[in-house]
Amino acid sequence: MICIKLPHTDFEVSEIAFGAWAIVGGFNWGPQDEKDSIDALRTAYEMGINFFDTAELYGKGASENLIYKALGEVRDKIIVATKIKPDDFAFEDVKRATEERLKALKTDQLDLLQLHWPNPKIPVEETMGALEELKKEGKIRAFGVSNFGKEDLSEAFKYTDEISSNQLPYNLIWRVIEYEVLPECKNRHVPILCYSPIMQGLLTGKFSDPAEVPDDRARTRHFSSKRGQTRHGEAGCEKETFETLKKIKTIADQIGKPMVEVSIAWLMAQPTVGSVIVGGRNAEQVKKNVKAADLKLDDDVLKQLNQATQPLKEQLGKNPDLWEGESRIR
Ligand SMILES: NC(=O)c1ccc[n+]([C@@H]2O[C@H](COP(=O)([O-])OP(=O)(O)OC[C@H]3O[C@@H](n4cnc5c(N)ncnc54)[C@H](OP(=O)(O)O)[C@@H]3O)[C@@H](O)[C@H]2O)c1
Repeated sequence: MICIKLPHTDFEVSEIAFGAWAIVGGFNWGPQDEKDSIDALRTAYEMGINFFDTAELYGKGASENLIYKALGEVRDKIIVATKIKPDDFAFEDVKRATEERLKALKTDQLDLLQLHWPNPKIPVEETMGALEELKKEGKIRAFGVSNFGKEDLSEAFKYTDEISSNQLPYNLIWRVIEYEVLPECKNRHVPILCYSPIMQGLLTGKFSDPAEVPDDRARTRHFSSKRGQTRHGEAGCEKETFETLKKIKTIADQIGKPMVEVSIAWLMAQPTVGSVIVGGRNAEQVKKNVKAADLKLDDDVLKQLNQATQPLKEQLGKNPDLWEGESRIR
């Protein structure tokens, strides 16, 4: 597993990270067995992943607790990235929320603290001031952002030049960030941590038809607003999404590799990608996903994948918000 150093940090992270949202089950994911979650986390570590992404919002601290439970004994060998929620971006709230995250992870220093979504109602100057202070105090080793667009980044950079990462949705059927956000991250030397890299299972080939996708997972702008839990109010592009998935599967079959590996490997080949945060609900899934670390796609295959997914990218347009019609990402 290749590891890369994030800017403004003194640590390296594995190019495949473990995403610890689904392992708490509940909203979006349904029932989850804790033993499977612990096995998934330990398997990830044993297979060379040292980077674990979590958040307060994943089960109100339950995901952070699980990371401690599974990997507390190797705390000094792993890098944990957690997130605080937008309601907590005022100066004193950032401080308080950070103390809460330290408690949930049972640690005395956070490795990477991220702002989960931008909050235009709270001055960025205040939030960045608090993060810089926490870094000086040694409570956090580094800080990053998540779901920050071009304008969000420009605003933040007025007050700090220490942003270590920007976590964004990015995968073969969600390439929207390539229009504006990715070039901005590239210019500013901010690595991207890709979330939902296999589009919550769609890029494993496990669903062959939109109707097979459970409602609580069919919330993204790919799906029709007729689906119960969508918030975007758009027609979606279910037909094009599933046609694109078929094309990706054909390319993966031609090189004799599983679609999930090809999808992760495609991301690792993109410029400005720092790490690919893949969710796994059990050890078996993790084992399959980690194999992508050994897959280097050649230029011809990368080109075919780009061509196959370009029409869907164009159809989805420039709004970088995966879930809402009016982008919360500026
Ligand atoms: N910053 C943010 O706003 C934000 C938003 C979303 C996610 N994230 C982060 O990114 C991480 C990853 O994103 P994600 O969880 O949304 O989606 P993802 O990684 O694209 O998909 C993960 C899901 O796909 C299924 N899966 C995984 N490996 C599989 C395999 N080999 N075969 C078949 N199915 C497989 C599992 O669900 P099933 O088994 O139930 O199908 C799993 O939970 C999260 O855990 C979280 O840390 C951040």
